[in-house]
Formats: sequence, structure tokens, C-alpha cells
Amino acid sequence: MTIQINYKNSDLKKPSNNLVLFVEENFNISGLKKYISGAEFSYISDLLKNSDLKKNLLFFDVNSKKTIFLIAVKKNLETSDIENLGAEFHGYINYAKKNEYFINPDSINNEYENLLGYFLHGLKLKSYEFNIYKSKKDKRIISINVIGNKKTLKNELRFKAIEEGTFFARDLVSEPPNILNPKEYANRLLKLRKLGIKVTVYNETQMKNLGMNSLLGVGRGSVNESFLVTLEWNGNKKDKKAPLSFVGKGVCFDTGGISLKPAKFMEEMKYDMAGSAVVAGLIQTLATRKAKVNAVGVVGLVENMPGGNAQRPGDIVKAYNGKTIEVLNTDAEGRLVLADALSFTEAKFKPRFMIDLATLTGAIIMALGEEYAGLFSNNDDLSNKIFKVGEKVKEKVWRLPLHNNYDKLINSSIADMQNINYSGGAGSITAAQFLQRFVTSKTPWAHLDIAGMAFSKKAANLNPGGATGFGVRLLNQLIEEHYE
Ligand code: BES
Ligand code: MN
Ligand code: ZN
Repeated sequence: MTIQINYKNSDLKKPSNNLVLFVEENFNISGLKKYISGAEFSYISDLLKNSDLKKNLLFFDVNSKKTIFLIAVKKNLETSDIENLGAEFHGYINYAKKNEYFINPDSINNEYENLLGYFLHGLKLKSYEFNIYKSKKDKRIISINVIGNKKTLKNELRFKAIEEGTFFARDLVSEPPNILNPKEYANRLLKLRKLGIKVTVYNETQMKNLGMNSLLGVGRGSVNESFLVTLEWNGNKKDKKAPLSFVGKGVCFDTGGISLKPAKFMEEMKYDMAGSAVVAGLIQTLATRKAKVNAVGVVGLVENMPGGNAQRPGDIVKAYNGKTIEVLNTDAEGRLVLADALSFTEAKFKPRFMIDLATLTGAIIMALGEEYAGLFSNNDDLSNKIFKVGEKVKEKVWRLPLHNNYDKLINSSIADMQNINYSGGAGSITAAQFLQRFVTSKTPWAHLDIAGMAFSKKAANLNPGGATGFGVRLLNQLIEEHYE
């Protein structure tokens, strides 16, 4: 099903086709007389007497061709509530099986700027489908014609950029692991060049020369080559300040390696590259809307497989920053990839801050479920900013502590550190402590553990189910509010 939004037909006052109108709280329809016929008005008035006025959306079949949808716009809604109304309306589109709608935003006097923009944005985000492997596709085209005086949208490019960035991230996460191996992934990132993004791909030989043995160790068991890719968006040439940086875990498939995972649900580990997909989607969003900011994305792309050449539990590797790591569990691989990606990003770009995203630990799902991502940071200011924008766009994050006593748990007796802790619990925190060892204290850094957020079996809010793209809207908002 494809949804087309059209801005023509502006002269239509009372279309004879399906009509979507906004009403005030409690379905007070007194303002609708200009938009529907007298017969329709009295018909709806009658039916409203027996309707549940607490609902957000009611619809009335006035004849065989025309259904009137009323959307109640309550007082004091946040922009995210308006987006959710759009998503809720999408549910009816799916169910009602009609091809054409007219939507007129004029029917209420509301306090909301750009009501229609947020409404359609929510509808669009909810309408995402990943169907390229279905031989029978839903070929319906649904057109939504915007009519009325308030039809000029504000920030259309902004909404479009976020939608496309989110969809790009969702596509990457949804792809099966036999298709999206590190090489194919790097090739897709190279296509971002057409948006003006500078894309640089480092192959295994180049990474070897740079000393990224921690990342390379993870990919050793796979026949697929590992890559590190940097994505630079320089939207503000005059700005001489250091760029913002975003680092993503891109484990295209995580079998656990020699520390093999159990079979049940192992297929979910195709989404272990979601952190990197969000970084790519974010940089794409910035480029599409020509954001006046300088930002760089860095992603480590590897496949974690067992095999004759695979890394063993007990191996010691020397990371890019010179530190040695005893790999006690090859399934704690995300931190090994990020270790090199983080210290490389800091050394090469000297960024204003580093934010990394990773499906890093199962433990964060135990702690926070599918509601909040885990946030860890060495900087209160950055951390507070991320928290606040998260509440606003409803991509929520919850901060958990870092502490020297947790850090001690990953000291190794024969190397600088080990990649897991055997005592003390707190698996998500010790993973974050591990990452912190690859960031010097002068750079503000935040780590988002999105293991519970990247993918959802159930549909919720603006997600249709499946890959969510969690993080694109969060970080785009952070940049818009504080760094542009
Ligand atoms: N990719 C997993 C984390 C994960 C688990 C993401 C479930 C999404 C859903 C990560 O690489 C991993 O395997 N972590 C281990 C760490 C352990 C070996 C210390 C885990 O969480 O069990
Ligand atoms: Mn793992
Ligand atoms: Zn993993």
C-alpha cells in the first residue's frame, strides 16, 4: 500500500468523497456546517448522541461513497500527540479499504501551529512497510488530498527528511543478514554521496594498518570482510568548531561467535547493526534537510561468526588506542567494535561530543524493556539535553550510572582489561564502562544502549512493528534544538 499526499483540488469546498475533518474536544461539531451538507450534519449529530466521545476518532458512513472521519483535537496536546493522531488515522486507512480521502484542516480554530504537518508526519511514519521480498505485494495506492486554506505546510522539507532518514534506518535493519553483509552495507552507504555526504570506506587492510585489532578480531570468523565507514556532513562551512559525532555498532549478524548463542530467537540478531543504521539515517536526514551543522557518523561493520579462523575466548587483542583486551566471551563483541570506532573517531575528528548507539546488551532489556533506551554519559549537560529531547519526541532515554567501582570489574589479570565481568552483575553498566575506556575524559560522550528499542514485534505509536529507527528523531531533535 502506497500513500500519496496531494495538495491540489484546493477549490473543493464540500467534496462528495471521503472527508477527514478536525473537531474540538468532545466532538463538538458546531463549526462543521461550512464543510458538510445540512443532511450530513444532522445525521452525524444524531449518531454522536450514542458515540463514545472520549475517543480520538469517529467515522460516519453517510452514503456508499462517502465516509466522514472526525478527529478530536483535545486541549494542550503536544506535537507527539498530534503525530499519534495521524498514526491512529492510518489504522483506519488500513482497515477501511478506501482509495481516496480529502482532508481539510480549516474546520477548527486551534492553538497548534502546523497541526496538519505533524498529523501527516505521524501518518507517514506509521505507514512504513518492508515488502521487497514479498512476491505478492499490496499494490493499493491511497491518495490523501489536502484541501482548504490552511493547506500550506510549514517545514515540509524537515518532515520529509526525518521520514526518509527513519525509513532508511528501518530498511537497513529489516534486510536479512544474507543480503546486508558488511560489504553490501558499505555499498549502500556509498550511495549517500549523491546527497553531498562525504563517505570514506576503510577495508580490512587499511584497518589493520591503523591498528584496529579489536574490531578486526570480531570479524575474523566470517568469510565476509569487515569495514569501517565514515559519513561527513558539512552543512556549515563557516563554523570552525569541531563537528558533532555519532558512532554506531554495525554487527550485521551476531551468532555470538565461538561463545555461540542459543538457537531460539537467534534470527533477531540481524538487527544487531541497528545502532549504525540510526547513525546512517541521521546523517541522511541532516543532508536531506541541508542542516546548518557539521556532523560525522562512524560505523563499524562486521559479522560475528564461529569458524576455523574465529577469535577464541581467551585471545588478547591490542586496540587502536594501544590498550590490550582479553576477550573472555566472543559474544560481547559490540563493545570490541565500538572500542576502535570510538577512539578512532575521537583521534581523527576531535569532535565536540561523541554519541554512540548500540544494541549492546540483553541486560538493558531486563532493566528498561521496550520503553526507554539506556543512557550513559560522562557529561551532565549533554546527558540532560538528550533526556529532554527524548521526552519531547517520545524516543525516551533513561540515565544509568557509571562509577569507578563498576570499572574495576573489567580489569584483567593479564591484559589491560577483559571484555566481560564475571561478578557484580550490572551487565549494561559494565559494558558502558568498557566503552568509556576508549574515550578520553575531555570529550563529552554519551552511550545509548538501544537493544530493547531497535526492533519490536508489536506495533506501537509511530511504529508499524518491526524495525523502529529509534534514535533518528531523537538525535535530529537534539541537533535542531541545541547545535544549529
Ligand atoms: N547483540 C547482543 C545484545 C542483544 C541481546 C541485543 C538481545 C538485542 C537483544 C550483544 O552482542 C550480546 O550478545 N551481549 C551479551 C553480553 C554478554 C556476553 C556479556 C548479552 O547481552 O548477553
Ligand atoms: Mn553478542
Ligand atoms: Zn551483538
